[in-house]
Amino acid sequence: MGSKTTSSTTGPATPATGDETTTTAIRIAGASKVYGSGQNALVALDGVDLTIAPGRFVSVIGPSGCGKSTLLRMIANLERPDAGEVEIFGASPDAACEAKLIGFVPQSPALLPWLNVLQNVTLPHRVNRAAERKRSRAASASPRSVPDLEQLLDDVGLKDAMHKLPAELSGGMQQRTAIVRALGLQPEVLLMDEPFSALDEFTREALQEQLLDLWDEIATTVVFVTHSVTEAVRLSDTVVVMAPRPGRIVDVVDIDLPRPRSAELLKTPEFHHFEDLIRDRLQAAWRSPELPNAA
Ligand SMILES: Nc1ncnc2c1ncn2[C@@H]1O[C@H](COP(=O)(O)OP(=O)(O)OP(=O)(O)O)[C@@H](O)[C@H]1O
Ligand SMILES: [Mg+2]
Repeated sequence: MGSKTTSSTTGPATPATGDETTTTAIRIAGASKVYGSGQNALVALDGVDLTIAPGRFVSVIGPSGCGKSTLLRMIANLERPDAGEVEIFGASPDAACEAKLIGFVPQSPALLPWLNVLQNVTLPHRVNRAAERKRSRAASASPRSVPDLEQLLDDVGLKDAMHKLPAELSGGMQQRTAIVRALGLQPEVLLMDEPFSALDEFTREALQEQLLDLWDEIATTVVFVTHSVTEAVRLSDTVVVMAPRPGRIVDVVDIDLPRPRSAELLKTPEFHHFEDLIRDRLQAAWRSPELPNAA
């Protein structure tokens, strides 16, 4: 992916992923989010700064409750920051959604219960077909073709489930349906909140591989939330480590490993080095005392 850039590991003061001189896919500056008020106020995010260049694969990892989903929902225009700002390709999240730049796989699959698998994954296309597709890319960019969604369903092992309703599916099958629905849109920015958490290890590894292939093909910017260190290292150009109370970014680590990231790479000392590094940073995040403004 030609637009991908590499940056050095950036400390918590000014986290950034990718070369700041290129166009920015996602820019988050001083974003804070507080739920509740008074004594019940909970600082879900505090002063979050993050810049992601187009085409990067960025994972977000951190203890439960540190604000990962809140951060993703903020990018997806499902939450508004109480302070600070969020931009997608220089536009507001509102405008980015309007222009269909964002694909979102939420933490729970959110399928329409009265539509079968195939109808669920094709719904966005049917809704959007008439709408003009406004993209913030250069005007010369060629429009993307609509992917073969039935083939994608086949690829993720859902061929026989295509005509089943969500209630007839396992949790993992529902997750895979939601993933295909988001991938099918070929969005400029793909947000995925623990998309593989309900899958067995082998299906998970197979889907990681497919996701990397698709990412390479459609050259999208991905923000991927996970609790798995191995998954974060395998998939990512950059891993963002968060800590709770208040929710904040404490580390940004570039994963300087070659691609493609085959299953064999997972056994190498270089891969283990990055796993150990992220684990150390995560442990520090767990232990870290409450800091008023650590990010
Ligand atoms: N709508 C809401 N109202 C009140 N509090 C909320 C709301 N959404 C999230 N929170 C709180 O904000 C904090 C961050 O939540 P968030 O869901 O972003 O965490 P997370 O890092 O995604 O956790 P997990 O790994 O368990 O999914 C948590 O303490 C949560 O209880
Ligand atoms: Mg979450």
